[in-house]
Amino acid sequence: MNTLKKIYCRISQTVFWLAIPFLPYSDPKLLDATTDLPAELKRRGIGSVIIVTDKSIHGFGLIEPLKRALEQENIRYVVYDDTVPNPTVDNVEAALALYHANGCQGLIGFGGGSPIDCAKIAGARVVRPRMPVQKMSGVFKIFHRLPFLAAIPTTAGTGTEVTASALITDGATRHKFPINDLMLIPKVSVLDPEVTRSLPKHITASTGMDALTHAVEAYIGRSTVKSTRADALEAVRLISQNLLDAYHNGDDLTARKNMLMGSFLAGRAFAKSYVGYCHAVAHSLGGKYNMPHGLANAVLLPYVLDAYGDTVYHKLKTLGIAAGVCDEAMPAKDAAETFIAWIREMNARMDIPTKLKGIRREDIPELAKKADKEGNPFYPVPKLFDAQELERFYYDVMEA
Ligand SMILES: [Fe+2]
Repeated sequence: MNTLKKIYCRISQTVFWLAIPFLPYSDPKLLDATTDLPAELKRRGIGSVIIVTDKSIHGFGLIEPLKRALEQENIRYVVYDDTVPNPTVDNVEAALALYHANGCQGLIGFGGGSPIDCAKIAGARVVRPRMPVQKMSGVFKIFHRLPFLAAIPTTAGTGTEVTASALITDGATRHKFPINDLMLIPKVSVLDPEVTRSLPKHITASTGMDALTHAVEAYIGRSTVKSTRADALEAVRLISQNLLDAYHNGDDLTARKNMLMGSFLAGRAFAKSYVGYCHAVAHSLGGKYNMPHGLANAVLLPYVLDAYGDTVYHKLKTLGIAAGVCDEAMPAKDAAETFIAWIREMNARMDIPTKLKGIRREDIPELAKKADKEGNPFYPVPKLFDAQELERFYYDVMEA
């Protein structure tokens, strides 16, 4: 990257870092079980809600205990279960219509990232009836307090149960865009391990590595504050101690709960301190080939950390100590290499490949441009790369 662009990036990042203490972040209240939510709704005077979910979660019966508990509290509910992976503007509008038709006073996003993001934006449309979803793209466009919003993550995870963002796709153009606004932070997050119990092994693996990537990228970036560093380290500790247990034994509810907490903390860390190029590249692959987000991050992360070189040795050593694979006595370079090797080993132990299928060589310049646009100037990465330099990551991970 040329020097002028580097200066521009670092100045932009410093402005955002200085703003962190002044932004009115408010943490969601945490509940331990979906069945605790109706009493919370009652306390808040909410008598009617929409549950936004998808067909498979509804079909698995995961929302049944919540439905029964709502009935016991005499809270009316309606279920919208047509959310698709990469939720569309049409999903949002359909959920919004049901919300109004049933006189709802609150929304519950129940699922992986897609239903929760759909619920977030449907809530935004309630308070912004004249603003099309496409116009919400970017930062701070909503600016109105949403109706009550709860998130019940069924993966651990995306972190969307604590972040101020949502990803939505325009079904007509297939353009996928982020909406960022502090109003999108849910009021309540339910970290109930029971609803992650039936998660297939490969999803436990890839979503768990996505959560690890959130913690690592937030920690090694240059826009951290004391609280985000603490959250990221605790997330790495929890994920390192529980992901393999959750993977091998899905019924281990202690491991499942700890993974939900690890994902939540990693989400809270990156909500303020951002992610990095691993995510920028993964998003470009997701947009172009519908490549699963967690899988792309898992495969990319060791390569991206290698490329940051000596700019991250000390930080990776601290993360390695949190993960229990490094100790204080190790030279920083050795510790960083040990931590990166541990990530590769975690992938291997969960049958995550070292390469990604389907990347076409001729697409790489365009993909790298998208990653450059997403990451620069705002991601406070330890080492700056321009579009041409980012191309290396696609070659690193593409299957020959
Ligand atoms: Fe992610």
